[in-house]
Amino acid sequence: MVGKKILIVDENAASRNFLVNTLREKQFKVLEAASGKEALIISWRDEPDLVLFDPVLSDIKAEEFIQKLRSNSRTSHTHLIALSSDPSPTRKEACLKAGADEYLIKSSQAIPALEESLTRLFSDKKASEPVSKNQKDLGLLIVFLSAKGGTGTSSLCANLAMNIKQSQPDARVVVADLILPIGSIGQIVGYEGNLNLITVADLPSGQTNEEFFHKNLPSPELWQFQLLAGSPDPQHGNVLKGERIEQIVDVLRYAYDFIILDLGRSLSRISLPLIQKADLITLIVSTDQSTIQLTKTVWDYLQTQGIDHQKIYAILNRAVGLEGLTKAEAEEIIGLTIKTTLPYMGSNFALANNLNQPITTKYPTDTASIIFKETAGDMLRQARRLRAR
Ligand SMILES: Nc1ncnc2c1ncn2[C@@H]1O[C@H](COP(=O)(O)OP(=O)(O)O)[C@@H](O)[C@H]1O
Ligand SMILES: [Mg+2]
Repeated sequence: MVGKKILIVDENAASRNFLVNTLREKQFKVLEAASGKEALIISWRDEPDLVLFDPVLSDIKAEEFIQKLRSNSRTSHTHLIALSSDPSPTRKEACLKAGADEYLIKSSQAIPALEESLTRLFSDKKASEPVSKNQKDLGLLIVFLSAKGGTGTSSLCANLAMNIKQSQPDARVVVADLILPIGSIGQIVGYEGNLNLITVADLPSGQTNEEFFHKNLPSPELWQFQLLAGSPDPQHGNVLKGERIEQIVDVLRYAYDFIILDLGRSLSRISLPLIQKADLITLIVSTDQSTIQLTKTVWDYLQTQGIDHQKIYAILNRAVGLEGLTKAEAEEIIGLTIKTTLPYMGSNFALANNLNQPITTKYPTDTASIIFKETAGDMLRQARRLRAR
């Protein structure tokens, strides 16, 4: 704990000086900022281990301040403690929802409470455990699945991931195609290299560390995220070991801020643990009767496996031109709220896919592009809210 770098943010000089002196005496390296904007600059430049801030800032709203830190890869994992003279539950809730780790009140008990928090936050990362990151430090895991093939799972996964990266340019975003026996995201984004799930799984696990992925995973042009492509053929896909996939995903969770997995329609021994670990489960539903019935079966099963309905983000994708069921009818049958509906895009979707381009780039003014953008933002908000609980 000694020697950790703490940034103190407080507009009130007396309060700031008091905290600076108190923490220096406890052998922390202390930085200070007198405004929100200055604090952001220092945080991104000096990367403190913890930011201790009074959430009443006149140049930026506390929620925005927290979100800016959380969405930048240099500070997405920094501990954030609010120290406020405002005891109102509304402000506390707002700060925690936005991503602060703790909310303490300025009072005569503030220093002991702060020391307790510092001990807890700093000792969460035990060096002795290889997998020692605190749950809050791991990247957000977003999985995509559907009850049936051809519902648009892979195309939506790639296009939404692209929009997530676009909305968070500083974040590290990876898409991993885990569909066995053959993946398809490589085709959608036009990646033809031979680094994929199978070739990575063949390497010794010591070699496939965070740095390996950062350095070697391709970033297909226009798509912006990094891609771990899927199995190129069934021959290889069928011999892949499940435990190796879990290991790979675990490393990705340390190495990236957002880990987006295409699980397709599989509910296998491999995919179930990943669904259980996910922060958000994107369930793609199409409008035909049989897909909706199957989706109900899948959702009923997931509930028996302890999946919380708040984690489900259901998207109705009109992947076929037929009229099909309405959103309300689909919700009624499945027993889930549908968060977004994507329109049938005719041949545009196939065309963009054939050209290996994101819909948002190929048809930027199309309704679907606008929906992709809004949906990406909405998914992130839901995932962050759940993580803050
Ligand atoms: N909203 C849509 N409008 C038109 N075509 C779509 C739409 N969603 C998906 N498609 C098309 O449906 C086909 C299947 O999509 P894909 O993403 O491969 O589904 P899955 O991964 O669920 O099997 C693709 O050709 C894709 O371009
Ligand atoms: Mg697919």
